[in-house]
Amino acid sequence: MTLPVEPPNRPATAPAAPRYTPAEGFWEHFLKEYWGQKPGVFRNVLPGLIATPDEVFEGIRASWARRETDVRSVYVNGRRCTPAESFTFAPKPEETFEPYLSRITAEQEVTFVVYGMQVHAPELWVRTREFISGFIARLGVPIDVELELFSGKYRATPRGPHRDDASNLSWILHGEKTMLVWPPDFFEKRGVPTATQRGQTWGRDLCDPEVYKQYQDEAVVLHAKEGELLYWPYTWWHMAVADKHDAPMMLNTCVYNRPKADALGVMLMGLMRQMELGRIDNFGRFDPAVGGDSPAPADIVATLAHLGGLCASEQMRGVLAERFVKHASSSGFTDVPARAPKALPADVGTVHIDARFPIAFRQDGEALRVWSNGHAITLPATPQQVELLTRLNAGTPVPVDLGRDAALRPLLEELQSTRVLSWGAPA
Ligand SMILES: [Fe+2]
Repeated sequence: MTLPVEPPNRPATAPAAPRYTPAEGFWEHFLKEYWGQKPGVFRNVLPGLIATPDEVFEGIRASWARRETDVRSVYVNGRRCTPAESFTFAPKPEETFEPYLSRITAEQEVTFVVYGMQVHAPELWVRTREFISGFIARLGVPIDVELELFSGKYRATPRGPHRDDASNLSWILHGEKTMLVWPPDFFEKRGVPTATQRGQTWGRDLCDPEVYKQYQDEAVVLHAKEGELLYWPYTWWHMAVADKHDAPMMLNTCVYNRPKADALGVMLMGLMRQMELGRIDNFGRFDPAVGGDSPAPADIVATLAHLGGLCASEQMRGVLAERFVKHASSSGFTDVPARAPKALPADVGTVHIDARFPIAFRQDGEALRVWSNGHAITLPATPQQVELLTRLNAGTPVPVDLGRDAALRPLLEELQSTRVLSWGAPA
């Protein structure tokens, strides 16, 4: 069954701006009919592409400057490359998307995934936040969001049908894309053994590249062309299929869903690391005489008791609130782009912000704490700074003249480097 495409959602005359905001009613409809329930294909969600393949390719190129091994996965003829092998797939200087893809796939099938694209391509992050702002306003602050980029020339997702921890909003930015998806209980009902590891569930016997074909006719087929959006909930099995000569580029906004214990675990781990509890190589001697009444290691029990008291304290509430405000100020993205250079474009002008993303701030005595786009800074508090932030958050364009208000410079530089400010001509 091929899923029908949702009818055009945009009014005949699309509003001139903002560019990356779906039409009124899109997110209400999506949350009511699709979110967490069923997959869908959406057409005309935005007036144009959220990013061109060339813009995205600049992000892919930037990702290769990162030497960490968890930035990408590369598969050749269905086999996952080692990190060293992966590095041979870096684009050449000046190479553009299509020649690059043709070169690396000349004699083999290649699938590549780039994780954390929002870090490699800050502009993509800014646009995506605009796109999902109406969604998050209704859903709440996600546990984690990430942009992941999928491309290559290949006939099927290596390793076959699987489930992830993330629900995917997936833009097709080049070519066409066909995803086969199956309902959550599809394979279980057929007695296919599966295993879950680090949030991904795979069918043990589905990894063979040909095996999925016996379930293909029962799949729900999501087919999308350039500019269209796919969605599937994290509970659904999925894989991509393609003609070897297709060259799709797919940018996924992955909205993660995690066991609450995992989310709490990450937070507690961060807190315990802050406590600098030292290192350990043994729990102390075990006395066989205590038998079935073996006590838990005293050192660990004492640490937990200390942590328990700390968790209930005002101090810990403050630490948790700080982490949450920072997370909320990045719309739920755990990894955000690094600060840009803080140089201001002018000393005199008019500044404003997108009021859908207000700047969080709190004055605590002489200190002013400011959270903007996933970054935080503490500055000396002045009435001028508080007034500027208040006016910006109201959506008002604010004239600034640093010749006159030199003390505003550190705050303006912070907002500039965290990509919050827009500048206009002097009033
Ligand atoms: Fe997946």
